[in-house]
Amino acid sequence: MPFPALELLRCPVCRNGWDGPNSSERTLLCASGHRFDAARQGYVNFLTGRGTRFLPDSSEMVAARERFLATGSYGPIARALAEGCAAATAGGDDGGTGPRAILDVGAGTGYYLAALLDRLPGSCAVALDISKFALRRAAKLPRTAAVVWDVWRDLPLADAALDLVVDVFAPRNFPEFARVLRPGGAVCIVTPSPDHLAALRSLLPMLEVPTGKAEAVATLAGPEFEPDSVRLVRFPLVLTRDEAADLAVMGPAGHHSSREKILSLLADDEVRTEGAVELTVLRRR
Ligand SMILES: C[S@@+](CC[C@H](N)C(=O)[O-])C[C@H]1O[C@@H](n2cnc3c(N)ncnc32)[C@H](O)[C@@H]1O
Ligand SMILES: [Zn+2]
Repeated sequence: MPFPALELLRCPVCRNGWDGPNSSERTLLCASGHRFDAARQGYVNFLTGRGTRFLPDSSEMVAARERFLATGSYGPIARALAEGCAAATAGGDDGGTGPRAILDVGAGTGYYLAALLDRLPGSCAVALDISKFALRRAAKLPRTAAVVWDVWRDLPLADAALDLVVDVFAPRNFPEFARVLRPGGAVCIVTPSPDHLAALRSLLPMLEVPTGKAEAVATLAGPEFEPDSVRLVRFPLVLTRDEAADLAVMGPAGHHSSREKILSLLADDEVRTEGAVELTVLRRR
């Protein structure tokens, strides 16, 4: 069995493609002999020996993310993203349902990518994240290469190889997105609106205040992208204390606040708040 989505990947050391006959599901060997072994859980770590100055999500944060997303509370985001991506890459003869080459940046556990692969059957994907704990989950998705990498470095991907880049609540490297997308390809970005989880944030001061505005996203993207659409997705959230704590721990607050501390600030059994995110679609010129 070949490594999934191998044709999309490039050697992170020398940028070459792969020695196909001598690469496998377990080992990637590039044309100039650089070798990367997949972890037992299926992901491959391209950051070996280099590291990153960014703090990866811990196993506790990833477990909280997996529990929270499994409740379906963020289902409205996943559905809006899948529909937006299908619409953005429609055209051609397949009515927008055909297979695509997808990059999910900061893919986390692969929750959103799973929804996309359902919506665009047969697609192949690269799930990129600096957290190997997150990628252990994402590596289970079909036709998906789960790659440990820092998005601020040149991406280990071929030029103009992708139809779609998705980025949900994760850092964005637009010059590299422009390089790896084919002309006409789309980037679909989910950012929190200023009032995302406002009622929860009033209880938990350690939660980050969202700053990203859709207009700012389009401006930051630069001249290689043209705006396609912006959609606001709003949905009510009625959370148990445990779910609210998971939602807090799975984000940046999980790096510096303990679950106990967060639970101690949640007096009621139930937290009512509202999700509000912007789905911005840009097109590679
Ligand atoms: C808020 S989480 C979102 C994860 C996923 N998209 C989701 O919504 O479930 C941000 C993700 O970006 C990853 N991340 C943060 N900095 C990164 C970087 N420099 N390079 C790659 N991934 C990064 C984190 O490990 C984390 O999984
Ligand atoms: Zn190489």
